[in-house]
Amino acid sequence: MKSISSKKLKGNILIPGDKSISHRVVILSALSIGKSKITGLLESDDVIKTIEAMKKFGAEIKFKNNGICHINGIGLGGISEPKKPLDFGNSGTSARLIMGLVSTHQITTIFTGDDSLSNRPMKRVLKPLENFGSNFSLRDNNYLPAIVKGSKLPIPFNFELKEPSAQIKSAILLGALNTPGITKVIDKFNTRDHTERLLELYGADIKINKKGSKKEILVNGINDLKAIDLDVPGDPSSAIFPIIAALICADSDILVKNILINPTRDGAFRVLKEMGAKLDFVNHRILSGEDVYDIRVRSSKLKATIIPKNLAPTMIDDYPIIAVAASNAKGKTIMKGLSELRHKESNRFKGILDLLISSGVKVEFKKDDIIIFGNTNVKLGGFTFTTNLDHRMAMSALIMGMVSKKEIKIDNSDTINTSFPNFYNVMSKIGAKVMRD
Ligand code: S3P
Repeated sequence: MKSISSKKLKGNILIPGDKSISHRVVILSALSIGKSKITGLLESDDVIKTIEAMKKFGAEIKFKNNGICHINGIGLGGISEPKKPLDFGNSGTSARLIMGLVSTHQITTIFTGDDSLSNRPMKRVLKPLENFGSNFSLRDNNYLPAIVKGSKLPIPFNFELKEPSAQIKSAILLGALNTPGITKVIDKFNTRDHTERLLELYGADIKINKKGSKKEILVNGINDLKAIDLDVPGDPSSAIFPIIAALICADSDILVKNILINPTRDGAFRVLKEMGAKLDFVNHRILSGEDVYDIRVRSSKLKATIIPKNLAPTMIDDYPIIAVAASNAKGKTIMKGLSELRHKESNRFKGILDLLISSGVKVEFKKDDIIIFGNTNVKLGGFTFTTNLDHRMAMSALIMGMVSKKEIKIDNSDTINTSFPNFYNVMSKIGAKVMRD
């Protein structure tokens, strides 16, 4: 795919379902008693990996091509041992959440993934799970393939998160479901809270205590989950691509419908507002226990800002595209505390620097901070960006191409199917000049 200079983006668009919520509803519905009907489920490569894995554990899942998914749960404790290794492709969320699940079942599971996933750290997830009584082995003691031997008699434990990772937190909470007694996770980072919210909806015995800036989550296992019907809201970390495109392309006015706005995920929107973005949040409603809005976006003269480290967990997936917005803002933007970006689908810390430097944007870094000297001039373009199997870097490069003198091409378009399979159609609908090769 490639993109060229675009303006006058107009129209209404619907963004596919939230990726984090989609993974979790597939897992929780598969562990429930009874039949769940899920609408708006994200139909992306990553979510398909979670579906395939849950089928291998014995759940009955029927997913039609319209976001409607029927899941007949197997009940807690009922998962059976897969006969072959499970291939999680590019999906860190599928692999890590399911590591938690299998750690408290008396089965052995082998995890594999693509080149990107095979270079992402897994010990940070599997080490805490040992407290349940599970064992693991990893290549070079950190990377896939992994062999996880679940505990026969899971033991509950207390754990304080050391890294700001919702995946680690969620892995422990999923393990706790099949563990008798109370497992406690302490989260001082305010990581995304979809697992907690959904566990309440599925009827788990879960309690949340707020202690100053810390949050304690207590799950009392083993209590049955009950099947529910659920509608998945649109993914804010996908919506952010057309939104930033409309902000930086001249004479644009679009409406992005049905977007999840959750305080543990909305950092990028708060930052954009601070930068002077014309964003109007309208038509508020509650969907599946989450706040949802339509967002009107108009072209804006953006100004630089300082993004503090404590916002990072609330916008961790959005830095690459926020960096594109900052490149088009007036002044010096500082994005602080970005160490976690080195552990995403690619090393995004480096990916952001590469994209900006190739575009002729002045950029510096100091330890874990990136400093972007934004300007409102059109960018250079005229290069092919290496995506390194990273969907969000791929889409960020294409949006950069929309404000560049010459086209920007990406070396791999398939990677976008990880999270936003209809990206091309959505962008074309509003008039973005994005082209297939
Ligand atoms: C996710 C958590 C985040 C995020 C990822 C999805 C989740 O990862 O980057 O895209 O659904 O829990 P970390 O837990 O590694 O921060």
